[in-house]
This record gives sequence, structure tokens and C-alpha cells, in this order.
Amino acid sequence: MSTVLERMTRISLFTIAAIVLAPQGTATADARVDNVFVAYTLVAPVAQVPSGLLARAVVPAGGTCPVLRVKKGSGGSTAWFKVPMSERRPPDTTYPAFSAVRVCEAAIPRHSLAARVLGRDIPAHMPSRIRRLAVLGDTGCRVGQQDCSNPDRWPLARTAERIAEGKPHVVLFLGDFFYREKPCPADQWQWCGSTPEPIEGPAPDFFKFSDTDYSWLADVFIPMRPLLAAAPLVVVRGNHEACSRGGNGYFLFFDPRRDTANVCAPSVTGGPVPVNSITPSWSADLKIRPDWRLRLAIVDSASPEKRGDYDVVSYGINWAEAYRPFFAQAAGFTAPQADVESWLLTHRPVFGIAHETAPDLCLGAASCTLWTSVPNQSAAYGLLDNYSLILSSHIHLAQSTQIPGQPPQLVLGNGGTHLEAEVDYSLPLAGGPLTGVKDLPAWVTQPYPTATSSWTDVRFGYAMLHPGKRRGNGDGST
Ligand SMILES: [Fe+2]
Repeated sequence: MSTVLERMTRISLFTIAAIVLAPQGTATADARVDNVFVAYTLVAPVAQVPSGLLARAVVPAGGTCPVLRVKKGSGGSTAWFKVPMSERRPPDTTYPAFSAVRVCEAAIPRHSLAARVLGRDIPAHMPSRIRRLAVLGDTGCRVGQQDCSNPDRWPLARTAERIAEGKPHVVLFLGDFFYREKPCPADQWQWCGSTPEPIEGPAPDFFKFSDTDYSWLADVFIPMRPLLAAAPLVVVRGNHEACSRGGNGYFLFFDPRRDTANVCAPSVTGGPVPVNSITPSWSADLKIRPDWRLRLAIVDSASPEKRGDYDVVSYGINWAEAYRPFFAQAAGFTAPQADVESWLLTHRPVFGIAHETAPDLCLGAASCTLWTSVPNQSAAYGLLDNYSLILSSHIHLAQSTQIPGQPPQLVLGNGGTHLEAEVDYSLPLAGGPLTGVKDLPAWVTQPYPTATSSWTDVRFGYAMLHPGKRRGNGDGST
């Protein structure tokens, strides 16, 4: 029989052993427990990721990065391989806003047949013939303006289910994930759906950021989980992902490039973030048919603005000049080729119609419609010839417009956030885009002509696009 002293010694040794064996550091491991909140596949530039697909996983802080398992085939047999996932770190100066999670990533190898993170399947390759493109944008819950607990008022989870049920081959997200950027107003507590508050509350300095890992969980990862696993995601940055808003979370979780996690880093913890943080344009090709490639040119139009989108200059920055090289860069991706159709994806519409109620914007009238966004219209001037479609969101509705000589514009900003007013979205009376705008850059020789057609629908939704018989030819027809 052991003595009390011996039993105590054994307990002590056991305790000490447990402490020694507790996991330390950031080593990558193939964990045996399902310790992943969410895993998904991002479409990425092939210059950085040869397969064009990047796997991301979000695990609790303190958990180890899992291993990505991929299945490959050769000579009629298949086998699973392990690919270590590495940590994608948030900027140190965001601490402690993203301290509850660890983000892990790995390039999915070319010719992978399947991919899995801790038992969860994620898209491993692009279909060789894409037939269903899901498109949505502007999805988060605008705290204080809509009931985040009511799926009729904030239907994102239901929309994500519907899209996943439709089995898209690719999902295009057009920007503005993040809307939980303010504390819940005290008199609207029952509407906020237990939304987490920003760390610093209402920021007295606009250029502090407003997101945290918990608010991204509430606004994005919990409602969108089925959608995130459904297909590779092409992600566009919205102005709600400007550095002063949800930019740090966007670059941590969703920007597909390896070198961008610090784009919105505050200069010091709790300090200012960059105002102009436009990132380079990039492109991705989707195979529609053997003789038809769809080239997506993605332009970051996520600047902050002071007064709607009607001024060229805001916060002392001429945004037309700032955006111009990036629209030119994107145009460079789209030189005419026999088998290529090109679309421009940019969050702010080049040719969108917004409804305004500010008398100074409406020349004294109580309300009016206006072309938005002036910086994009100016920056893209003369650089749109090779596109057969412009896809945007930003205005919280569904809308199409056709300007003569320009590609058609489709706006899908009705993905879940508080919708625009249900009013008449007739063509602006003043004329076409840029009519009457001051301080236009020298390369704009005259305003655009007014639209020949427009259509608007103010209801929640998304689009599932299917290829027609013929590809668009870059002259505005599809
Ligand atoms: Fe927006």
C-alpha cells in the first residue's frame, strides 16, 4: 500500500508532467480534434499561388494551425498528401482586436482532386467548365438600423444557405462584409442580435478601425458558413473594409494575397490607420468552355469618403488620381484575345444611380437621383473598352444601367444589409455621369452620355449567373 507521501508525489509528478506537455508556441500540427471555426478557399493571383487557390482556416487562439490534406491522382490511383498551413498574423498594432483567433493558410497544390481541413471538405480546384456563378455583396448587419436577430430583416444566413443549395461553381463577393462598426444604441438593444462592440466604442478619430474577431464572427463567419464552403471565393474589398472600418479583419481573413495582412496596420496600438490604402489590381481567369475564358479584373475602390461619393477630393486626397493607375493596371489585363471575355469587378459602381435627400446635393430639391461614384467614373474614363460587364455593389439594391459606348453595369448590393429607400430610381435629370462635376481631371474630355436604360429593384437577394450561348465581345454586349 502506498503511503500518503507517495500518493502526493505521484499527483505532483502527474501535475508537473501535464504542465510540461501543454502545447506551446505556434508549431504546425495535424490536430486530431475538430478545432476549426471555418475553412474556405479563396481565388488568388497565380503569380503568388500557382493553382490560383488558397486555403484559409480560422482556429481559436492557442490552437495549432491544422494540416491541409489534399488528394491527388496519378496513373489511375489516388493518394492523400499533407500540406502544412502557416499562420497569417494580424498587425501587432491591432492587438487585442484579433487575439481570440488564429488564421492559417496554405496554397492548394495544382491538380488537387480534393482538399480537407480537419475533416471538413473545402473546394480543391476550379471546375473545368463553369456553369453557375453566384454573386452577392453588402451583407453585414447595420447595427442600429436593422434587426440583426430577425432573418426577415437581416436574411444573410438564409441567403447563404440558398446559394449553397444552388451549388455554385464560383462565388463572387463584391465587397462590404462588415457593418457592426458601432456599439448597439441603448434604445435599440433588442435589435442588435448580441452584436459585439468595437474595442474602443464610437471612435472620436475616424481613422481608428472598428472591427474585431468577434464582430467578424457575428457578421460573416456564422451566417455565411455554408456559402464559404460551397465554392472558391473571388473577393472584392468594399469601403466598409476601408482601414478606418473593417480593413484589418478584411486583410486578415479575406484578401487573397500573401503580402497584405499589414495594409491597414495602425501606426501604434489604438492609433491612426492609413487613409489611402488602395491595393494593386489583380485578375483571375475562369474556364467557361474550351473556347471561352472569363477574365475577372479586380480593382480596389475601398476609400473612405466624407460626403457620399460625389466629390473627387475627400480627406485631402484626389481619389480620381489615386484610383487612375489601378484602373489602368486592370485595363492592361484585358487586351483583346479571341477566347477571352473580361469583366471589371469593383465595389463602387462606375455607373450607379443613388437616391439622395440632401438639399445641397439636390440643388435645393427635397430629393433626387444622382450618378455615383464620381471618383470611379473619373478614374475609369477611357479605360473600359475591353469589358463586357462591370459588376459592383455598394448601393443596397439590385440595379442595371447601360451607358452608350460603355459596358453594362450590374449592381448587386442587396445581400443582407439595410436596404436603400424604396423610391423611384429614374435617370438623374442633370444628364450622364460626370455632368456638372467640378475639379474633373484633365483626361476627362466630356461627361458620359446619359443611360439608354436602367432597372432597379430594392429587395434582398443575390444573383446566380449562367453562361449563354455566346461570350460577350467587349463592346457592351453579352
Ligand atoms: Fe459600400
